[in-house]
Parts: sequence; structure tokens; C-alpha cells
Amino acid sequence: MSSVTVEATTPYEVWIEDALDLAGVVSDALSPGTAVVLTDSTVGQFYARSVEEALKSAGWNVIDTLTVPAGEASKSIFVYETVVRRLARSGLPRGGTLFALGGGVVGDLGGFVASSYMRGIDFVQLPTSLLAMVDSSVGGKVGLDLAEGKNLVGAFLQPRLVAADLGWLETLPPREVSQGLAEVVKMGLLAGGEFFEDLELLDAACSGERGAMQTLVLHSVRYKAAVVAQDEREAGLRAILNYGHTIGHGLEAAAGYNLPHGEAVAAGMLAAAHLGDERFHTDLSSTHEALLHAAGLPLKLPPVDIEQVLEAMGRDKKRRTSDRDGKYRFVLLRDPGRPERDISITVAEARRAIGAVLAR
Ligand SMILES: NC(=O)c1ccc[n+]([C@@H]2O[C@H](COP(=O)([O-])OP(=O)(O)OC[C@H]3O[C@@H](n4cnc5c(N)ncnc54)[C@H](O)[C@@H]3O)[C@@H](O)[C@H]2O)c1
Ligand SMILES: [Zn+2]
Repeated sequence: MSSVTVEATTPYEVWIEDALDLAGVVSDALSPGTAVVLTDSTVGQFYARSVEEALKSAGWNVIDTLTVPAGEASKSIFVYETVVRRLARSGLPRGGTLFALGGGVVGDLGGFVASSYMRGIDFVQLPTSLLAMVDSSVGGKVGLDLAEGKNLVGAFLQPRLVAADLGWLETLPPREVSQGLAEVVKMGLLAGGEFFEDLELLDAACSGERGAMQTLVLHSVRYKAAVVAQDEREAGLRAILNYGHTIGHGLEAAAGYNLPHGEAVAAGMLAAAHLGDERFHTDLSSTHEALLHAAGLPLKLPPVDIEQVLEAMGRDKKRRTSDRDGKYRFVLLRDPGRPERDISITVAEARRAIGAVLAR
């Protein structure tokens, strides 16, 4: 099977396939109507034409294709305004559908547009980056950044359909592939079992073997879908997906956002493994190192100030406000497949774990 059903309030399919029959998949899921395609300046050059053609052949009336500049800066109120105004000028009706063709930036921006334009229109994700395929396109979190912080404006909007062609990854730079693989490693460690064992396919996936990549992407989507189905509005359980992200976010902030997310999360997971090894008397940090290495993630970080990392962790919006005792709340692993959340870590423990990773 190359699709996974996300059992959200309104269930939807996620298709992951090499040489995907986009027209067929879209036709099976939705009746044709009026559509706008949103993409970015890099992805659009490669794939906008073929996606428009597929939609047209499936009977859709594609009235516009909108291209935003590639990069995180497009998740802004300013770009949001230009997009919704352009939809209004193009005459996209209340019953229309927005197709987001691109990475997590286009997906998050497009989803927020779809959640608010005319109080909500149908939304389809066509994720083209590995990160978007395994993580951001599944789960319904959409949003924008503010100068005050990332993802501070947003909504929950489940798409009607997610469909990705693994062939799209051919043009994705290897460093971007590794950013997506960091989330794959994260979910494999959290899931355990067959997914964890299949992480031995990381090398093959990195060297472009589509079958290996498809196995890992489907595992990830299935895992994230299962977590999301149990906790659609992020009331609790979904927090386990933050494994490696507490320190990861701190490192990103301390590095002035010059450190790619996946690399920061990789270092964050390694630090969490050190904490877990101390707490649970395990030896998982070497397992982490081997997996992250296979995913092509450099575990050498740019020089950052540990105190700044700790301070940014304290400011992280995901930190519980009840934490007034100077402690952090962590997700740690007892074993692959046995995550525990809400583990209280002192500042001194966190400092030591980050130090161990930075000293490598
Ligand atoms: N909504 C969620 O649940 C969720 C989860 C994780 C991350 N995110 C968000 O996702 C964003 C990061 O996503 P991303 O890493 O995909 O970033 P991105 O969308 O900026 O894509 C990364 C780069 O790769 C390019 N690209 C994408 N697909 C390509 C392809 N097939 N060929 C060539 N180039 C391609 C893009 O143009 C861009 O330059 C962040 O804004 C993050 O906050 C959201
Ligand atoms: Zn992440």
C-alpha cells in the first residue's frame, strides 16, 4: 500500500508513490472544481506545469498559479496578504480548492490562507520536500511567523488530501533531504518495532533508492498520523513529537537561525539521549549517533553559547508555563518505542547534556 489514512475528524488519505498518478489520486478523493495552485519560486520551476496539467486532465478548472519566493520569509503576514488578495482578484470562489505544491513553507502558508480565505476553503497538500512529506503536511497545523517568533499565528486545518511523488525529491538538495531524515529518525526512535528496524534503510534512502525512501516515508506518515489521530488539537500526547526539539529549538535560536532545523534537532536528540542514558541507565547515545550519521546529519555544530541555548529553551512557547521551578520538561526514551514525556530536567542536567554534544 502506498497510502495511509489519517483518522482525523474528517479522515483523509496521504499518498506517497514513485511516479504518482496525481490525476487519478485527486479524482478518487475529490470531485473536480475551481482550483488555484500555490507554489514557491524553486519548486514551481520544476513541477508547477505538470501539476496544472494533471489537475486539468482530472477535470479541474485551474484559474491561477501563484508563486511566492522560496524560503522561510514567505511565511509572513505580508506574503499572506499578497496571496489572499490575489485569490480574491482571481475570483477563487468559496467552494474552490487551494493546492499547495512545495515544502513546509508553502504548506504552512497555503494552509493558513485556506483556513481563512472566505472563512475557509478546501485545501490539498502536494509536499515536495522530504520534511513536508514526513512531517509538516500531516497533522493539520498551519501558520505564519512573526518578527516576534516562528509559528506564532496559525490554525488547525486538516487537508482533504495529501499526495506526493517521490520523484519530486530528485531535485531536492541532499542537505534538505537530511533535514527531513532527522524527523524520520526521530519518529523511528519514538515508534520502535519494525519502523525502528527499517532505519537500517537510511543509507539506501540517502543514496536515492526510491523503495527504501518510500518505506521510511510511509512509516513516518503512519506514525505521525496515529499520534495526530489520538490528539488532533495537541492537548497532550502529540508533545512526544517534540523529541529532540526542546534543545533543538534552543540551539536554533542561539545560532541566530543559521542552523538548519534538522541539524539542530539531530543535536537535540543526541543531547536527549545523553540525558536518557543518565536517567534510565541506557546506552542509546551511540545508537543515535549511528542513525544520525547514516541520515547524513553533521553532528558538529557551529560555536554557540550554552547559556544562550538554555535561555532560549526557557522562552520556547512549548514550555509549560507551570514550570516556575527552573526546570525543563523533556521527552526522553527508555528504549526505542518507549518514549516518556513530561520528564523534569534541571538546568544543570541540561547544561551538561548540551555541553557533551557541543564538545564533540
Ligand atoms: N505544520 C507543521 O506541522 C510543521 C511541521 C514541521 C515543520 N513545519 C514548517 O515547515 C517549514 C520547513 O519546511 P521545509 O524544510 O520543507 O522548508 P521549505 O518549504 O522552505 O523547503 C526547503 C527548500 O527546499 C526547496 N524545495 C522544496 N521541495 C523541493 C524539490 N522537490 N526540489 C527542489 N527544491 C525543493 C524549497 O524551495 C526551499 O528552498 C518551516 O516553516 C516549519 O515551521 C511545519
Ligand atoms: Zn521538527
